[in-house]
Amino acid sequence: MVKDILNGKRGIIFGALDHNSIAWKVAEKAHEQGASFVLSNAPIALRKGDIFELGKKTTSEVISADITQVDDIENLFQESMEILGGKIDFILHSVGMSPNVRKGLHYTDLDYNYLQKTLDVSAISLHKVLQTAFKMDAMNQWGSVVALSYIAAQRTFSSYSDMAQAKAMLESIARSFGYHYGQKRKVRVNTISQSPTVTTAGTGVKGFNSFYAYANCMSPLGNATSDDCANYCISLFSDLTRMVTMQNLYHDGGYSNMGISDQVIENCFVCKGDCHEHLPDK
Ligand SMILES: NC(=O)c1ccc[n+]([C@@H]2O[C@H](COP(=O)([O-])OP(=O)(O)OC[C@H]3O[C@@H](n4cnc5c(N)ncnc54)[C@H](O)[C@@H]3O)[C@@H](O)[C@H]2O)c1
Repeated sequence: MVKDILNGKRGIIFGALDHNSIAWKVAEKAHEQGASFVLSNAPIALRKGDIFELGKKTTSEVISADITQVDDIENLFQESMEILGGKIDFILHSVGMSPNVRKGLHYTDLDYNYLQKTLDVSAISLHKVLQTAFKMDAMNQWGSVVALSYIAAQRTFSSYSDMAQAKAMLESIARSFGYHYGQKRKVRVNTISQSPTVTTAGTGVKGFNSFYAYANCMSPLGNATSDDCANYCISLFSDLTRMVTMQNLYHDGGYSNMGISDQVIENCFVCKGDCHEHLPDK
């Protein structure tokens, strides 16, 4: 295992809610690798309280910020630079939420105020974080920003609802801002498209168990865990990946390039409809 690859780096980690959160694992590994960072989450998540346990474990301060509020983000950057003693080297955007999904509204019956909220929290917030950092000149050269995405940005997953549009926009913002930030300050911006993972946000999607089992059966390496995802994030924050930017990076055990697998043929698909009627009995 590599050691200290984030030594001396300063970061901001958004989105650690509880010990299942992907951001939680990233914080643990960033600490192991020598980084210092500030943890941030929405006021409601701070009221839940688990994040303070992570703060203690990783000797990091926790700062409340609703990621849709530019004032909160400005304050977060200002305070983080004071606490950490300099500009920021890495940012994890590990935030997603859809009121339409939460309320169980069908995709053909979306509430458009909720849709705005989904896009604001889950995608436009990345632009707000990047634009605030850009204007405040809060990041060091060769800094790295990573946001978490899902393959529903490219393909239809029937119950992923308006989060699919949010992820498509998130990936697009990473490309567009990645250009401007790269040119101006050599800061890189990427998204990681992660396997289904057992977390609060993940399991909130209707049919999550099927998403998880199907992806696991399709992927030659199986689903990537949150620990695996955290390792990938750490590599992207490190200087070992300096020339990677504006990419959507699949971290899914091979799922995104599969059509069908032996495991699905043998185990997963038992059709109870009439589509087998005209097929040979195999
Ligand atoms: N779990 C999966 O299957 C999966 C797969 C691919 C991508 N992702 C993405 O990974 C990211 C992290 O999710 P997770 O799975 O670790 O779940 P999680 O529920 O642990 O994390 C989601 C976080 O978003 C935060 N958040 C929501 N609204 C906010 C706001 N207004 N301001 C600040 N923070 C806010 C929550 O407090 C929470 O900490 C999300 O972008 C999610 O879409 C998850």
